[in-house]
Amino acid sequence: MANSTSSYLWRKKTLEMVLSETEAEQFKLKKTLTAIDLIALGIGAIIGTGIFVLTGVAAAEKAGPGIVLSFVVAGLACALAAISYAELASMFPIAGSTYNYAFVGMGEFLAWVIGWDLILEYVFALPAISLGWSGYFTNLLGSIGINIPAWAANSAWQAPGGLINLPAIGILLAVAILNYIGVRETATINNIGVAFKVFVVLFFIFTAVWYVKPANWSPFLPYGWAGVFHGAAIIFFAYIGFDAVSTAAEETKNPGRDMPIGILGSLGISTVLYMAVSAILTGVVSYTQLNDPAPVAKALNLIGLNWARGLVSLGAITGITTVLLVMFYGSTRIIFAMSRDGLLPPAFSKVHPKFRTPTLAIYLIGIATMLVAGFLPIGMIAELVNIGTMLAFILTSIATIVLRYTQPDLPRKFRAPGMPWTGILAILFVLVLMISLPWETWVRLIVWFVIGLFIYFGYGRHNSILAKQQTQH
Ligand code: ALA
Repeated sequence: MANSTSSYLWRKKTLEMVLSETEAEQFKLKKTLTAIDLIALGIGAIIGTGIFVLTGVAAAEKAGPGIVLSFVVAGLACALAAISYAELASMFPIAGSTYNYAFVGMGEFLAWVIGWDLILEYVFALPAISLGWSGYFTNLLGSIGINIPAWAANSAWQAPGGLINLPAIGILLAVAILNYIGVRETATINNIGVAFKVFVVLFFIFTAVWYVKPANWSPFLPYGWAGVFHGAAIIFFAYIGFDAVSTAAEETKNPGRDMPIGILGSLGISTVLYMAVSAILTGVVSYTQLNDPAPVAKALNLIGLNWARGLVSLGAITGITTVLLVMFYGSTRIIFAMSRDGLLPPAFSKVHPKFRTPTLAIYLIGIATMLVAGFLPIGMIAELVNIGTMLAFILTSIATIVLRYTQPDLPRKFRAPGMPWTGILAILFVLVLMISLPWETWVRLIVWFVIGLFIYFGYGRHNSILAKQQTQH
């Protein structure tokens, strides 16, 4: 008994198996993405609600002007993890990201754990991000005299007098439709959105920098170093998304070369922009004034640049839309990959005959995220997303180290420098951030995994394609 248990828990795919899966006609996705598309996909997924919304509350309540250091700490943790993502994504040009890497390196059970964790990250990130979108949208309409009634712009959990968050539901529906139509179209819209978003961020930096008063940076660490780490655990959300680049490997023309460029390039560009924005934001006004749903727009208002407010709000709305597009894309591909392996029902990996997109996975994610966004509060969801993503980073770093020892001869088009130390440092760094999150968030993470275990032991392990193949041999 013990023997058979351990054999199914640790059964692994080989790289050949994984690559041949992508060739089967019924699962074929289009290979259309280039390195530039991937950097845009990364920036598209990264710069959004985190910088435009969460920076304000994190500066006001956790870190003060030291929020710049929070961005450095969280950015460093992400960069260390990103190096592992880049190595693995250059090895395995397949949909499903870390989930599939773990399947080769560590076996079915841990692959399930990672896949289930990625579903948590992406599926809950979508509503949290859409609530940031809804805030800026309601705000922008309000500034031109169109007021959405309170009951329709918030749920009862989100604000007093609220019933349902219709703008959040509306944007999620639009994003679901775009994902349904296809990858090439999604990438084109994403590229346009990214260009506008980067322009607006640079516009803010170069317009507001002249209004910096160094006195606002003092005291620099009003909440001490603990505040810097608490701030980092929150604004970690702002970096989520570079990992989504790796989910597009199967649809990339030359994944071995382009994946590392896409992952590390988009993360590097975003980090520089975040440090500049947060330094200027806390330099132009006192950090105590930044606790606002639209802190960037508010700062411009406070320094008398009201004319720039509308443009920046529009940039935030566009920017957050591209985050939603990529995250939606990533979440459907994880479910697609798990279903293709038989760990989730096979209907989720059927692709549309014309659009070549996984239709049922898109319906599922669309409906689930609209329900959460329409009715649940943002803070709780964002923290849950952070802890889930942090866990994914740790598991990815472990997978990279394990594969170096167990499969040393697999071709690696990009080799992470300084292994295993880079991986170990990533794990330690991310653990420190995880510990900085409240215990309630840990409890929610555990509940999510208990549900996942029921699904795996009740369904996945019996229907696993790998299990069927092994029985035939
Ligand atoms: N990084 C993404 C954002 O800031 C999730 O919205």
